[in-house]
Amino acid sequence: MKNILITGGAGFIGSHVVRLMVNKYPHYNILNLDALTYAGNLENLTDIEHKPNYQFEKIDITDAKMVSRLFATHKFDGVIHLAAESHVDRSISNPLEFINTNILGTVNLLNAARMEWNGNMEGKRFYHISTDEVYGSLGETGLFTETTSYDPRSPYSASKASSDHLVRAYFHTYGLPVVISNCSNNYGPNQFPEKLIPLSINNIKNNKPIPIYGKGENIRDWLFVEDHASAIDLIFHNGRNGETYNIGGNNEWKNIDLIHLLCKIMDEELGRPAGTSAQLITFVKDRAGHDQRYAIDSSKLMNELGWKPSLQFEEGLRKTVKWYLQNQQWLNNILSGQYEQYYNEQYGTR
Ligand code: NAD
Ligand code: TYD
Repeated sequence: MKNILITGGAGFIGSHVVRLMVNKYPHYNILNLDALTYAGNLENLTDIEHKPNYQFEKIDITDAKMVSRLFATHKFDGVIHLAAESHVDRSISNPLEFINTNILGTVNLLNAARMEWNGNMEGKRFYHISTDEVYGSLGETGLFTETTSYDPRSPYSASKASSDHLVRAYFHTYGLPVVISNCSNNYGPNQFPEKLIPLSINNIKNNKPIPIYGKGENIRDWLFVEDHASAIDLIFHNGRNGETYNIGGNNEWKNIDLIHLLCKIMDEELGRPAGTSAQLITFVKDRAGHDQRYAIDSSKLMNELGWKPSLQFEEGLRKTVKWYLQNQQWLNNILSGQYEQYYNEQYGTR
């Protein structure tokens, strides 16, 4: 029996990782630690919450005492650390929250693991989930590899870069058995509707403007969230200590092209005449320090651990659209007064 701690398991990616681990490894005890911020939602896990190998604890990773107490009680063999503040626009208006959770919170977990595992690191693993945004912004060509220099440019990516450095420092200094992965943009069911794809789906459905920053020329490499979860499973079990693995979809899209594809799918799924949703596209003020292009070389992960993404983009996007259209209650519960306040601050009251 193994005891595994997953942090941030009530969030978008974390909930898919928790589901995969609980279902695939009935002989593991999975403990989901999450502070249930605006982005954490236990409704994401209703299908597995009664399984005997699953437990939830509402804990804030910035609370060092609570984190240490949890480690002392549960004797974890492994940690998969996803808890973070994750939205670039929020990091621009409130950097401190990102510093606290993403940097201090990560250090609290590292300290607790080091304390508990001191003297016996055998078979233990601390897996830190990070982002390709730590590498900065690409021009028209080139891909991020595991050896690309860090060059974060937003408070979010700077806080994630800092946490990556600290995780590596604990490997070199204390011999903590760590592994890190840096992934490209995820999409799929359960993503909070502040990120580009779910925000646009929700707006199109409600005939609201689709806000495109700048000219919509920025490029992202999109990966279906379940493919990220399968990579995390592989890396957690088979990745090498001290190593970094890049994860990406080999699927680059200019924002404006992605939104046109999304509009086409939405018209089809909602039974609207072709071209209806695209009329909602509205160019708005660009994001400050907006990274131009992200693109990932995942050949190390593919060659070393045999991972590959399972879904084509259009297939994954349609699956995502159908999920949001079929889960109106999930959306209603999330679109609380707080969301409205965030939306008005970010985009005005249109
Ligand atoms: P999310 O915002 O949907 O979820 C984050 C979760 O962490 C939430 O459940 C939230 O309640 C929890 N959390 C936040 N602060 C906490 C705290 N102080 N203590 C305990 N729990 C806290 O984020 P996501 O998109 O699922 O991202 C998960 C991880 O993956 C993050 O580390 C992020 O940097 C990384 N990542 C995300 C993407 C992406 O495209 N979304 C891509 C690459 C890497
Ligand atoms: P986002 O989903 O916030 O992810 P990230 O900033 O981590 O890449 O944004 C994806 C891209 O879409 C990014 O280039 C910013 C852009 N974007 C818009 O054009 N409009 C929006 O309302 C949002 C949220 C993002």
